[in-house]
Amino acid sequence: MTSYILDAVRTPRGRGKAGKGALSGVHPQELLAPLLPALAERNGFDPQRVDDVVIGVVSQAGEQGSNLARNAVLASGWPIEVTGVSLNRFCGSGVQAVSFGAMGVGSGMQDLVVAGGVESMSRVPMGSDGGGTDGQNARLRETYFQVPQGISADLIATRERFSRAELDSFALGSHRKAARAIEEKRFARSLVAVRDRSTGALLLDRDELVRPDTSLEGLSQLKPSFVEMGKMAAGPNGETLDQLALRGYPDTREITHLHTAGNSSGLADGAAAVLLASERWVKESGRKPRAKILAAATIGSEPVIMLTAPAPVSLKALKMAGMTAKDIDVWEINEAFAAVVLETVRKLDLDPDRVNPNGGAIALGHPLGATGAMLIGTALDELERSDKSTALVTMCIGGGQGVAMILERV
Ligand SMILES: CC(C)(COP(=O)(O)OP(=O)(O)OC[C@H]1O[C@@H](n2cnc3c(N)ncnc32)[C@H](O)[C@@H]1OP(=O)(O)O)[C@@H](O)C(=O)NCCC(=O)NCCS
Repeated sequence: MTSYILDAVRTPRGRGKAGKGALSGVHPQELLAPLLPALAERNGFDPQRVDDVVIGVVSQAGEQGSNLARNAVLASGWPIEVTGVSLNRFCGSGVQAVSFGAMGVGSGMQDLVVAGGVESMSRVPMGSDGGGTDGQNARLRETYFQVPQGISADLIATRERFSRAELDSFALGSHRKAARAIEEKRFARSLVAVRDRSTGALLLDRDELVRPDTSLEGLSQLKPSFVEMGKMAAGPNGETLDQLALRGYPDTREITHLHTAGNSSGLADGAAAVLLASERWVKESGRKPRAKILAAATIGSEPVIMLTAPAPVSLKALKMAGMTAKDIDVWEINEAFAAVVLETVRKLDLDPDRVNPNGGAIALGHPLGATGAMLIGTALDELERSDKSTALVTMCIGGGQGVAMILERV
């Protein structure tokens, strides 16, 4: 049976810094809650028919704890019969939520599912759940000492011999493409402005992080962000994080730190929701779906370098769909760090013109739990705008994992 996507909506992404971002005063449940009635209004369904709301959220602590999905359903004013479940597959959470929803409607066990994600990095910063990279399991660390992502990204750049100029030029492209997308209102179909739910005052109606005036010169002045972190003593014998990262890579003598605030994904606040339906519901309602899901896959990879799974997981999904990379019109590869996208493009020998045509997280920001669902909506909008057929969304994930999903327009 087929899993259909009927629609996708998202908030704009706000700067994920306390007191600085336009959404930093909004409780994360309240970021997600208005998207539910927005979906119902746009698609004319009775919320009572929704079988579940599946939401990715990474830092499940404080305001993002206590099953955010269920609380957001209640905060939205939807019927109490609608359930909510929150999940965490780190940065891949948003795609994972849509994937679980697709399994539900595709198996015939559910008819209508809302899947998406949320993250307020300004209110619940990365690391707030206290688990670090490995839940502080000293025994696991003897086998895998998982270092922070920035160090892994710099290790990838070092081993792939990417230059700082290559990373910065990719970042410049992300800003230019995102600025053009905003100028041409390419995100308009998905965007739902965020308002103060008590007063109705507009808080944000466009993505806040993009810097249209970004230049190569400006980018080149920025200091690498992870040098000091790499020098931190963290191992049992006082090894630094850089030394620990290199334990499994004896052919690399040292890590060249190249990622900066300019060529890494920005910290962001935001939420997204995708409406999924079963074949049965589509027939019964007579609604025309926007796309169907051809494949969804996850894969694990070496957990210390951590961010190299987008290529193998894309191949896994392509194989499941009986396709090759050349069959994909639009690639959305999450821009966690510039080196991640460049490595994936190189490994899969992709045409760069088909990759992230409207920029990505370097320009727009990466609200961890929400980004995957945002990328699915962006891919869908782009397929419709450019009258193309197929898209593949893939993301690197903490702990050495990757997720991919292939969509086809109906
Ligand atoms: C890289 C990182 C540490 C930088 O953090 P930061 O220093 O607080 O970064 P900011 O975005 O606030 O930028 C700092 C400064 O850099 C400069 N800057 C950033 N982007 C720029 C650009 N495109 N052009 C010129 N200058 C830029 C600005 O001066 C900016 O200060 P301002 O916002 O006051 O103008 C942080 O963004 C990060 O951790 N990113 C990765 C997040 C992550 O790991 N996600 C999971 C992925 S797997």
